[in-house]
Amino acid sequence: MGIISDLFTPTHEGNLMKKKYIVTPGPVDVPPQVLLAMAQPIIHHRSPEYTPIFKEVNEGLQYVFQTRNPVMTFSSSGSGAMESAVVNLLSPGDKMLAVVGGKFGERWADIAKAYGLDPIVLEVEWGYAVKPEQIEAALQKNPDIKAVYTTLCESSTGAVADIKAIAEVVKKSKAVLVVDAISGLLTTPLKMDEWEIDVVVGGSQKALMTPPGLAFAAVSDRAVALSKESKLPKFYLSWQKALKNLEKDTTPFTPAITTTFGLQAALKMIREEGIENVWKRHARLASAMRAGVKALGLQIYTKDFGPTLTAICAPEGIDGKAWLKVLRDKFGVTAAGGQGDVTGKIIRIAQMGYASTFDVTTALSAVELSLSDMGYKLNLGTGVKAALEYLEQNQ
Ligand SMILES: Cc1ncc(COP(=O)(O)O)c(C=O)c1O
Repeated sequence: MGIISDLFTPTHEGNLMKKKYIVTPGPVDVPPQVLLAMAQPIIHHRSPEYTPIFKEVNEGLQYVFQTRNPVMTFSSSGSGAMESAVVNLLSPGDKMLAVVGGKFGERWADIAKAYGLDPIVLEVEWGYAVKPEQIEAALQKNPDIKAVYTTLCESSTGAVADIKAIAEVVKKSKAVLVVDAISGLLTTPLKMDEWEIDVVVGGSQKALMTPPGLAFAAVSDRAVALSKESKLPKFYLSWQKALKNLEKDTTPFTPAITTTFGLQAALKMIREEGIENVWKRHARLASAMRAGVKALGLQIYTKDFGPTLTAICAPEGIDGKAWLKVLRDKFGVTAAGGQGDVTGKIIRIAQMGYASTFDVTTALSAVELSLSDMGYKLNLGTGVKAALEYLEQNQ
């Protein structure tokens, strides 16, 4: 009770002052440097002041995507870049392979269907990542597949795929490889050029530490060539329009200028830390989180887990939806729930982007307090202790 009343101090008006925390796998907490950058007055996007900012952002994005290819920015959420990767590569009647191991893989197939395509769906059991051999078999069965659409981290399950190995098998076919790295970018290594990936899509509200509103598509020469022939309808999401403008460090339409200011500041922080260190930090924090969860006797849902997020099974007798509500309403901590078949069965927590040791201990203490509040028997501090010990032993 003592701890709970500390978290919810009554104000003079009798309201409760809550300090809130967001621990979802996007949108994520935004660092003060980024928030401050976004407090700048609006400037015009076709002006000598804006052009160098966008140029710097584009170079920073190339660093994050590990590519020399152009990285286009759309003022949309990540799904806009996903949609762009379907409409700019394909034509009516084309064959595409969608790897579906969760809600976001499903989105590839849904977008294709919305444009009248009949996607070949490679179903993967939830919690697992697709195996390169499965993709290879699908490509051998359908050698006329034009594009393979897959996901680096399937955020609905936490499963992380071996994109390097997948790229090796796709390379043996005629297909281009498209990777949804919206949650995986920066949380787990991805090297677009070295691994020869054709298209990588991302979003600002994940480890890029920026508010929602910007989506990115990095495209290889092969992908650009396909975009010149593709016949699916497109206007706002046309790569040809975006690429033509990108050559002049501009966008075809009014960009989300304020969010771009924020992204500029975030990219500066990422470059200062160094991408290898960003990857290592995420891996270390996620391992510490898992150590804490296991020490509490809780199950990790994900079989092929990775550093992007931790999916925790609601223990026997605890409803996952009620658990989320307690976390949010009693403790001020917003985590994400399960989707589809695992609705009410798991919660998902991430240390993504602007995260350190204390984001792990905050999340774990919230897990402990909320479960304890719901009658689950545990010794407070067990998870936090295990996580701290892990961090101490793995500097
Ligand atoms: C892997 C993945 N793909 C796609 C999306 C969809 O992105 P958005 O909600 O920004 O459209 C998300 C968002 O959570 C995601 O994690």
